Amino acid sequence: MEILGIDVGGSALKGAIVDVQSGKMLTERIRIATPEGGKPEDMAQVAGQIVEQLNWKGPIGCGFPAVVKKGVAFSAANVDKSWIGTSVSDLFSKYTKCPVYTANDADVAGFAEMEFGAGREYYNDVVLILTLGTGIGTALFSEGHLMPNMEFGHIEIRGKDAEKRASAAQRTNKKLSYRRWAEHLQEYLEHMEALLNPDVIIMGGGISKDSDKFMPYLHTRAKLLIATLQNQAGIVGAAMYAKQQLSTAENSAKS
Ligand code: BGC
Repeated sequence: MEILGIDVGGSALKGAIVDVQSGKMLTERIRIATPEGGKPEDMAQVAGQIVEQLNWKGPIGCGFPAVVKKGVAFSAANVDKSWIGTSVSDLFSKYTKCPVYTANDADVAGFAEMEFGAGREYYNDVVLILTLGTGIGTALFSEGHLMPNMEFGHIEIRGKDAEKRASAAQRTNKKLSYRRWAEHLQEYLEHMEALLNPDVIIMGGGISKDSDKFMPYLHTRAKLLIATLQNQAGIVGAAMYAKQQLSTAENSAKS
């Protein structure tokens, strides 16, 4: 089954058509910068452009960088505050003319990593997946089950929101060397271990392609891995989420 996955981020919206059985992207990845200010209608318009460029007509899965319940955003850390209370699914549907299913971006990236990526072998463990990008996204799995909308990117470290110290964007914004940034990340990982005690930590996001530059500085009790799907996980996982929602709807229609 083919589904369009869209990964909405603070810096860009990315999309591709995904074969949800194999977890493979079937088209090139379209990337369009997030419009200045990250306002709902502007971002929905960009989702419309992705659909148009891929000539897509069908279900869309969407990973959105906020707490998302039943398609509605409940927070907005790196997008405009007017997203709070907005149905991402309905608004994107309006602009794409396709049914849209939305969940938190890190949660859906987690689905993809657990099924097709670095998490595959750790189904029976407690796995913490981190997406390091504009913010820090977190997804926590226990025996393959996700506890949705865990916002551990916002714990406080040294009086600051953790993602304002250790996200990938902070490294670029503050022009930190990988070594210096890794010190912040190490401190963050120590907090995560103390609070959550995961068996495995998987780190993804665009920065994961440069892992050789920062992994040597990181030390954890948990097994520390780099996401194998890297920045494709958000797109693949978004498509997987739509598939799950469609199957649930189908099953409840049957019963
Ligand atoms: C948001 C999360 C999101 C993460 C990664 C954070 O600022 O609060 O919901 O998963 O960024 O995009």
